[in-house]
Amino acid sequence: MSHGFETLAIHAGQDPEARTGAVIPPIYQTSTYAQDAVGAPREGYEYSRSGNPTRDALQECLAALEGGPVALAFASGLAAEDTLLRTVCKPGDHVVIPDDAYGGTYRLFAKVAERWGLAYTPAKVSDPDAVRAAIRPGATRIVWVETPTNPLLGIADIAALAAVAHDAGALLVVDNTFASPYLQQPIAFGADVVVHSTTKYVGGHSDVVGGALVAADRTLGEELRYHQNAMGAVNGPFDAWLTLRGIKTLGVRMDRHCDNAERIAAYLDGHAKVGQVIYPGLPSHPGHEVAAKQMRRFGGMISFRAAGGEEHAVQICNSTRLFVLAESLGGVESLIEHPGRMTHASAAGSPLEVPGDLVRLSVGIETVDDLLADLEQALG
Ligand SMILES: Cc1ncc(COP(=O)(O)O)c(C=O)c1O
Repeated sequence: MSHGFETLAIHAGQDPEARTGAVIPPIYQTSTYAQDAVGAPREGYEYSRSGNPTRDALQECLAALEGGPVALAFASGLAAEDTLLRTVCKPGDHVVIPDDAYGGTYRLFAKVAERWGLAYTPAKVSDPDAVRAAIRPGATRIVWVETPTNPLLGIADIAALAAVAHDAGALLVVDNTFASPYLQQPIAFGADVVVHSTTKYVGGHSDVVGGALVAADRTLGEELRYHQNAMGAVNGPFDAWLTLRGIKTLGVRMDRHCDNAERIAAYLDGHAKVGQVIYPGLPSHPGHEVAAKQMRRFGGMISFRAAGGEEHAVQICNSTRLFVLAESLGGVESLIEHPGRMTHASAAGSPLEVPGDLVRLSVGIETVDDLLADLEQALG
């Protein structure tokens, strides 16, 4: 029997525990497991890097939410990305990456993977022809996209890019961190692997760092599982438990994030102190129609250009009281940041450098009138 998203978020992988009936999966804070005989681990559990029941519960739930047969939970989003790259690619291979992406993801390609012989080409992921042109036939193993992108909220047409990638014999990898599986399920549109920083909306409470991979294909999923164990960047049991607790409310949180972001985007749009407002829910956004096709709603992230330039953008970031000046996103509390000097500082001087007048908001689930009043006083 198939269930709805919210039911899966609360129940998938989370049956009451067999021994006591504990309704919530216990935190199996153990490194190892007693074996009944040599070579006879109970239910396959032998060592917690290889397997842990709390992590398994999270993995099963993530697989159900993204609609893939295998999900794996990692110590961070970047640990998940690194494991994926080193499972799928080898020296001499090539990947197409977004020309707008999380700075740390860019750093992984530009400063780490390239040294090991993995070439990359940035391309505009909102333009399938540009992505096709960036492919090196025979060498490109992955077309990697974020949608929406961080921080410019570009929208990639997942189905169109799946066709482009598959024509070239490459995998389509979609970083679904900004949308969350509640708003967008890339596997349904042809993606081969979904990446998450579960630190963000999936965990949702700014209290845990984690990452995940969800594979559309079981064989690839098992190869990733092999590398998860072989490379070792696993999610710990307490972190898995916290993430799973956050997931239970993902649907209701995302709806409130979207409600608040829609109000705030409408308020900023046309404000005298604000230049361009970038929010996929605005009909003026160039990716609005594609977003409407593949997303349930448009998310909680808004970027805007300060009318007075870079110093003005910095001043706005320094002036809010409720919006906390901080990196990260996707928690219940609203955050503000200056991508050029904070989350994307590592992309300075690269093709992924972000405009200096850009401000990024992670709109939380507080009372929206309080958030509007805070922005009003900060914009001056
Ligand atoms: C879109 C996106 N992907 C991946 C990451 C990396 O995740 P983590 O910080 O959990 O390593 C981030 C972090 O901000 C992100 O925004």
